[in-house]
Amino acid sequence: MALKVALLGCGVVGSEVVRLIREQSSELTARVGTSLEIGGVAVRRLGRARGTGLDPELFTTDAMGLVTREDIDLVVEVIGGIEPARSLILAAIKSGKSVVTANKALLAEDGAAIHEAARAAGVDVYYEASVAGAIPLLRPLRDSLAGDRVNRVLGIVNGTTNYILDRMDSLGAGFTESLEEAQSLGYAEADPTADVEGFDAAAKAAILARLAFHTQVTAADVHREGITEVTAGDIASAKDMGCVVKLLAICQRSEDGASVGVRVHPVMLPREHPLANVTEAYNAVFVEAESAGRLMFYGAGAGGAPTASAVLGDIVAVARNRLAGTSVADGGEDAGLPVHPMGET
Ligand code: HSE
Repeated sequence: MALKVALLGCGVVGSEVVRLIREQSSELTARVGTSLEIGGVAVRRLGRARGTGLDPELFTTDAMGLVTREDIDLVVEVIGGIEPARSLILAAIKSGKSVVTANKALLAEDGAAIHEAARAAGVDVYYEASVAGAIPLLRPLRDSLAGDRVNRVLGIVNGTTNYILDRMDSLGAGFTESLEEAQSLGYAEADPTADVEGFDAAAKAAILARLAFHTQVTAADVHREGITEVTAGDIASAKDMGCVVKLLAICQRSEDGASVGVRVHPVMLPREHPLANVTEAYNAVFVEAESAGRLMFYGAGAGGAPTASAVLGDIVAVARNRLAGTSVADGGEDAGLPVHPMGET
């Protein structure tokens, strides 16, 4: 029997997810063990049916009706933002559906309630696409490093600001033209304030810190400073000192191990530092763990296809769990470490 997927949102990422499910249907069936069928697509306006190749009958503006429909097995949320995404996800979980989401803002604000609801309902919530696009990062933190002790996570997690800073550094380009280029390439959020003021990176830092340190972290716990105050003069001074300016998310255990600090701000990095060589809209994340040592995750952190790749990976994982009649505990907040915005450096 096919597993039925409900898709919430059919923008850049959603339409790419539809394309991949349709075009890779036989490979996905072989990997999952049964076929994946799109049972419905919730959109704000019905005109979105065009171009996806899907039966227009599958499109609806009644998202709540779709996520609670009895025949739906998995809900994929790619609309972003807090509401109506939160209500739809919680309703889906309550009615026994597993959820795949790319929604960093929601997870960073209300992840604890969503994970708790999923635990209570015995369903999965997977969200690999919420941080660093295509880079497999969250499941390695949650699963592969579950037996280790992570001490620091340091990363470039916003492609738009990395693109802007890279253009300013390498071409001497201006802030505005670089931002416009990033937007035209599909990296930036609809409202670029989220990128350039560091809100997007702060949400991602909160998600990373929660998984790395097994403690509850919200975006409000993250000290945040964006790149709007970075001038051409700052970039030139950094250059003179053999450095490059990068917007970093820094999640760090305190020296006594008793607390965690999480912050996002521009940093002058020596040019020989591996993160200094992460150019364009690429993302990279360093993880320092006691036994594993230093790990680096690198790749495309934004854009429709890379994000859809991560969403598809989660759909396959959740579908396999579903068939096996199991769900995977998210890791939770068992350590209960207090979080303070700055932490130690
Ligand atoms: N606006 C985000 C970025 C998209 O530039 O990284 C991916 O989350």
